[in-house]
Amino acid sequence: MMTDVLTAGSFAMSASRIAKSFGDTRVLRNIDLQLAPGEVVALLGPSGCGKTTLLRIAAGLLSASSGLMQIAGKRVVDGSAFNAPPEARGIGMVFQDYAIWPHLSVLDNVAFPLRMRKQRRGERDARARRALDRVGLGHLTDRFPGTLSGGQQQRVALARAIVAEPPLVLFDEPLSNLDRELREGLALEIGTLLRELGLSAIYVTHDQAEAFTLADRVAVMLDGEIAQIAAPEALFSAPEHVEVARFLNIGALVDGKLCASSGFTCTRARLTLPSLAGMAPEGPARILIPRTAIRPDPQGALMAQVLRCQFQGDRYLLHLGLDDETASLVCPTDRPAAVNSQIPLAIDTHRLRIFPH
Ligand SMILES: Nc1ncnc2c1ncn2[C@@H]1O[C@H](COP(=O)(O)OP(=O)(O)OP(=O)(O)O)[C@@H](O)[C@H]1O
Ligand SMILES: [Mg+2]
Repeated sequence: MMTDVLTAGSFAMSASRIAKSFGDTRVLRNIDLQLAPGEVVALLGPSGCGKTTLLRIAAGLLSASSGLMQIAGKRVVDGSAFNAPPEARGIGMVFQDYAIWPHLSVLDNVAFPLRMRKQRRGERDARARRALDRVGLGHLTDRFPGTLSGGQQQRVALARAIVAEPPLVLFDEPLSNLDRELREGLALEIGTLLRELGLSAIYVTHDQAEAFTLADRVAVMLDGEIAQIAAPEALFSAPEHVEVARFLNIGALVDGKLCASSGFTCTRARLTLPSLAGMAPEGPARILIPRTAIRPDPQGALMAQVLRCQFQGDRYLLHLGLDDETASLVCPTDRPAAVNSQIPLAIDTHRLRIFPH
């Protein structure tokens, strides 16, 4: 995405140095985030890191303590003094609790944003029907929300959020009340729908699979800050911080020492990696061994202890311990291994990441 050549006015959303405190507690610190038109960004982070707070500020439901925000080139936040009301922002929203109105039919729920925009009934009903067709609910227009399943209610909320084709759609864990299977299917559908309509969106979740399924870029949010924002593959292959690697559970983090001549050594894991010589400044370092970098191999240089062997139908998952502390890895194989036995692993050193201490 060529966001760097776009000027602020041509972003779907542009936030700069957004901060938010509740009393003395700083919940958001200096958030910078830009979305190109048509881009879908997932905000991924642990509970309490500030995802909903940021989304509520973008929606106009909460004021910022400081910072600037524009939506489709229009100023919506300017420090704590200016906060455009939600209805002036023209955005679509889908939240966890479906928030569709029980006293309105499915069609009237979806047509509601168009009614707010003073569209004529004939026109708005036609557009609402088209939006409902898109989410697969064209046959339920006259039903009332109380008679729908959770998944169907969330589709109604989705149709209502996109019906006016807003410059920005905000999602806050829209699928977390649904069961896993439904969630995966719907995440894929939401991504496809947003792309077909060319809509920009911020999608909050703490589910990695959901974020990776539908986002162009994923912003990993930790403790009120965006620790890294990148395409899903880039986040996995090149996490910039130990905390990002740990949160994404990419692999084992092993502490050791880097030396210009002998490479990386970690006595606890009985691991030496001469090929890492000269890769980073000498001294204490932590390496990330991604799950994808190891495989069982009789000639392998790294010994690991089998902690658990889990049968999964089409394969076994080995839970492996690398040292006597926390470094552990999960490795799929087609053969079982005895618990507590030692097995040798081959490492693809090109995939390792070094984090100097
Ligand atoms: N109105 C409020 N007053 C005081 N503290 C608040 C308020 N709203 C949120 N917080 C605090 O701000 C922090 C971030 O909350 P937020 O709801 O943004 O987290 P989140 O990332 O969405 O978490 P989750 O994944 O659990 O939804 C939390 O510590 C929360 O307790
Ligand atoms: Mg939240």
